[in-house]
This record gives sequence, structure tokens and C-alpha cells, in this order.
Amino acid sequence: MAINKGPDALPTDLVHRDCAWWQSAVGYQIYPASFADSNGDGIGDIPGIIGKLDYLADLGIGFIWLSPVYASPMVDNGYDISDYRAINPIFGTMEDMDRLIAEARARNIGIVMDLVVNYTSDQHPWFRAAQADRQSPYRDYYIWRDQPPAKGTPADIEASFGGPAWTQDSECGDWYFHLFAPQQLDLNWTNPALRAAIHAMMNWWLEKGVAGFRMDVIDLIGKQPEQGIVADGPELHRYLREMHEATLTGRDAVTVGEAWSATTQNAPLYSAPERREVSMVFQFGHVTQFWDEKLGKWKPKPIDWPKLKATFATWQAALHGQGWNSLFWGNHDLPRAVSRYGDEGDHRVASAKALATILHLMEGTPYIYQGEEIGMTNAGFTHIDQYRDVETLNFHRIQLAQGVEESAFLAGARANSRDNARTPMQWSAKEHAGFTQGEPWISVNANYLSLNVEQDRADPNGVFNHYRRLIALRQEHAVIRLGDFRLLLPDHPALVAYQRSLGDDTLLVIANMSGDAVKLPVSDIPVVQRPDLLTGTQVSTQAGVELDPYAAFAIWL
Ligand code: NOJ
Ligand code: CA
Repeated sequence: MAINKGPDALPTDLVHRDCAWWQSAVGYQIYPASFADSNGDGIGDIPGIIGKLDYLADLGIGFIWLSPVYASPMVDNGYDISDYRAINPIFGTMEDMDRLIAEARARNIGIVMDLVVNYTSDQHPWFRAAQADRQSPYRDYYIWRDQPPAKGTPADIEASFGGPAWTQDSECGDWYFHLFAPQQLDLNWTNPALRAAIHAMMNWWLEKGVAGFRMDVIDLIGKQPEQGIVADGPELHRYLREMHEATLTGRDAVTVGEAWSATTQNAPLYSAPERREVSMVFQFGHVTQFWDEKLGKWKPKPIDWPKLKATFATWQAALHGQGWNSLFWGNHDLPRAVSRYGDEGDHRVASAKALATILHLMEGTPYIYQGEEIGMTNAGFTHIDQYRDVETLNFHRIQLAQGVEESAFLAGARANSRDNARTPMQWSAKEHAGFTQGEPWISVNANYLSLNVEQDRADPNGVFNHYRRLIALRQEHAVIRLGDFRLLLPDHPALVAYQRSLGDDTLLVIANMSGDAVKLPVSDIPVVQRPDLLTGTQVSTQAGVELDPYAAFAIWL
């Protein structure tokens, strides 16, 4: 069997005969503004990232998903792009970018670009041309109306960041469609010229040597606003197949589509081996199942472990052999994993490690969001002035106008605002957590003195070393990459238990996801005494054995 190789044999250390390179690799997301600042302007940048590549190589990741560094007026922190082929000067230059690609590759790390093509910024030259001249070929790159839709008609859609999805253009007077901020204008994917322009841009980046793309809200590109269809439109998969043929065929790139609408039924349409429009999608069932029916993320529900386990088990079963899973707790839009699913207080380290264990030993490609590998926590902001995120600021205004109490909104934001994950990376106990020599663009979490890379990494029992071991285990054992998954103890309120099996190998994973000691129940778990793969300490699965708060282990059966 031929060995799969990434573009230019990327990343060679991660090549296994039994799977594609990205099926054994672990991804690491960098939110550039908050990762590492090299020049003291308080904003993380590309040279800052280059300076941390040895750190990431030591962790063992296979690729970096780089949140946008393109030219942008930064209304949505770079997700509003004004030139897909230019680097925002606050992040560096194109030479810096080329150096990042080369330096990462020298360490067997691929760079995965964020592909934000559901819309452009209002500063993009395509939109400038479209706005200036109704006859311009770029006019039809966007979606227009000569008047706003009547209330209650299908096109009367609400934007994700609040307010109506149609805004009147100040220059030409017509109404344009936008699913996010008014400065983020949706592209018209029914236009073949627009699709060809996107494909050309993707090929340009691939030729530079990037390892693939994370595709922002890709399930929205088949939208049909006049019909009220937003996600998962009828032409979505035709566009993705066409994109694949025009850009990805013949290259072993990794692609991951952000798809909030993905279900276990439609996910194989994206990633089934015979289709493989994208390598995998980011699916969010495990996130949204704990949002309020009415107030959504701003009023989160407590985590219900039996329900969460059921969601993971359903996804594991649905995509085994039928597609490929992504595995993640957090990203730049979600709260910190340890704050949301674990215990950011007394059991921070243990719960961060337990969360890592149960996620990284499932089937799929795991993603680490910057800082998760040291157990960073939510921002802890108490005042609206501390927030920078456009979504948080908009909903603060909207919900207060609707009569929501400010304290209730702030409690929701403290739990679920996107800024929770956007505070600067905590590198050390130095001023500003070693992130910058200047004033950071958003406050550093006050806990940096005792929670930082320098301290955690020096501790053999710290979170970083635990992640490092989990990443290495995926390389060592085919059963972790490819084994099938069986959920055990589905109804237990605190224990997460599952088995992975491949050929003669069976791995048993058990974690206590509560702050109380829990006794193993009498159950169909085989009784064995074995060393934990992660720590080497002996553990027993005998009924009655007590697991400490957030204890987690993995043993061979
Ligand atoms: C998803 C991105 O992850 C998020 O940060 C952004 O605001 C929206 N898409 C709109 O692009
Ligand atoms: Ca900087």
C-alpha cells in the first residue's frame, strides 16, 4: 500500500500506513492576536508565532489552524477579510508568512489557513466595485435587494450577531445580505465567476505550501435567502465537490469545514471516504445541546454527562468508516474547556487532564485551542468594558433593550462570551504573562501568576505533559487512530467510560468527571489490574474501587 504523504511529504513524522497523515495528526488552533506579541504593540503576530514553533513541536502537534491573518479592518477580529492575498500589517508581512510556513514545515508542522469565504469585508475591492457600479461584474458577487423584505416573509432573516440580515448600502442605496455583522457581506455562491475566484485564491495558498484549510461557516455557502434557507442549502455539496475538484484533488491537504448545522445524518455527505469533499467537519451538537432554547449561549445549561456522552457516542458510531470526526472542546468562539466542562477552581489541573484524556482517545482528529494544553480558564470579566468581541457587545445592547438584567447578561457572558478564549496566552509569570512588552489589546487573565506555560510545563504531572503524552499515544497505537468505539456506563451521571478495539487490541478509558470521589459500579466492565498508559500507575477496575475527583486512566484489556 502506498504511504500517504502530505504536500511535499508533510508532515513526515506523522505518516502511518493505515491512514491519511491528518488522521493521525493533532491540530492546534492559534488565535494570532492573542498568542505571542513580538514587537510590543500589544497584539500577537506572525513573528511571535514563529518564536513559539519549538514549543509546539515539543507538544507534538501535526498542524496549526491559523485563525485569519489576512488584510482586514478587524470588525470581527480578522474574520472580515479585505484582501485574501495580503497579510494584515498588525500581524506581519507576507515574508513573515512565508517564513512561518517554511519554519513550521521544517518541524513537520503544517499550516492550515482559515478560509473565510461565506462573505468578505465591506472594504474588499470586490465590494467597493459592486457598490460603486451596478453594471460591475463584481455586483453579482454579493446578494442584493432593492428594498428590505417585508416582515415575516422568508427573506426576513436575523443576522447571527443580532439585527436584520439586510442592510441598506450607504453608497448605492440598495440592500445587501449579511449573516454576520453589516461589515461582513455574504458572497453570492450561485455566481460561477465568484466560485472560480475563490478556487484561484485557494490554489495560490496551496502553492505557497500551506497544508490545508479550515473553512469558516462553510455550511452557509449554499444559502438561498429569498427562500429563507441559510444553512445546508440544496447546492452546498455541489459547490464543495466543485471546490474539491478545482483545488484539492491530487493534493493531500487537510480540510475541516465549520458546520453548525451538521448532524450525524448529513455529516457523511461532507467526509465519507468516497466523497471526501472535506476531510472532516467541526460539528457542534455537544456545544449547543447545553444552550438555552430562547437566549441561546447567553444562558447556558449545566453539563449533563449522560447526554454529552450519548452525543459523542452517536458521532463516533455514525462516522466510523463512514467519514471522519473532529474532536474538540474549545476554540476562539467557545468558552475555555476547563471552565465549561471541568472545574476551573480546586480541580483545575485534574479536570483539564481528564477532559484531554476522554477527548484524545476517541476516533477522529483532535484539536487543541491555544492555552488548553496548560488548562487556561475563562476570562473572569465582570464588566462590559472589559469585552472586545463584536458579538458580545451587540448582544449586550440587544438583550438589555429587551429587558434582560445587566447582571444576568454578564453572568451569561462570563460563562460563554467568545472573549473567554481570547485573553492572551499565558507564557510566564512576567508582566502581561510574557505575552507582550506593551499593553495587551484585551486584558490578561488575573490568574497568570500561577497559571502559565513556564510553570505548568516544568511539572511532569502538569497539563502540558499530559497532552504531550496523549499526542504521542495516538502516534504509537493504531487502536487510538482507528479502533471502533463502544460506550460503557451510558447512564452513569459522572463516569465517562468507553472501549476502543482494533484486532486483538482493546483499550479501556475511564474518567470521573465530577468533583466527588466515585466508586466504580458493578458493571460489565472487565475486572483487571493494569498500569495506566498515561502515568504508569497501577489501576484496578474492580467494583468498589474509588476514583478521585476527575481521575482518569486508560488501560489495555
Ligand atoms: C465563525 C468564526 O469562527 C467566528 O469567529 C466568526 O465570527 C464567524 N464564523 C463569522 O465568520
Ligand atoms: Ca505585535
